[in-house]
Amino acid sequence: MKIILILLSITTLSFSTVLDEYLNNLEKKVLKEEKNFKGFDYKRGEEIFTSSHIGKKGKEISCTSCHGINLNESHKNFFTGKVIKPLSPKVNKERFTSKKQIDKWLKRNFIDVYKKEGSSLEKGDVITYITNKE
Ligand code: HEC
Repeated sequence: MKIILILLSITTLSFSTVLDEYLNNLEKKVLKEEKNFKGFDYKRGEEIFTSSHIGKKGKEISCTSCHGINLNESHKNFFTGKVIKPLSPKVNKERFTSKKQIDKWLKRNFIDVYKKEGSSLEKGDVITYITNKE
């Protein structure tokens, strides 16, 4: 019986994706501070992703300045002009497959736009927006 339970938990684990785990971890962190947290929110994420702020090099930018408004398409980096592949995991299977990659870019990109790191709530909201947008 024990061995079956162990096997079962291993298979369930391997089914949960990097994205699910990432969001679960963020949720745990938010719940520590906000007891009546109701879950990440697409609308709040949209606001974070599309609103403009005085960011890097004093320029007024938003997440869309580099990733565009259509997340199923490539877009040019506002500063370097280099092409950035689509952010949506629906069309770009490499997205949200590496915790290290998500951590690194979310940290860097929040600082680019907001001049500070995103909170766990902000990160969860914006990921919910990016991964659910049509
Ligand atoms: C100055 C340009 C720029 C801005 C502004 C920007 N990004 Fe990015 N972002 C990049 C680049 C460059 C990469 C890494 C190259 C790549 O993954 O194609 C990246 C990668 C990412 C990734 C990595 C996803 C993965 O798993 O591969 C996420 C998530 C992301 N950005 C979210 C955001 C969010 C949220 C904002 C706004 C707070 C934002 N970005 C603003 C340039 C930008």
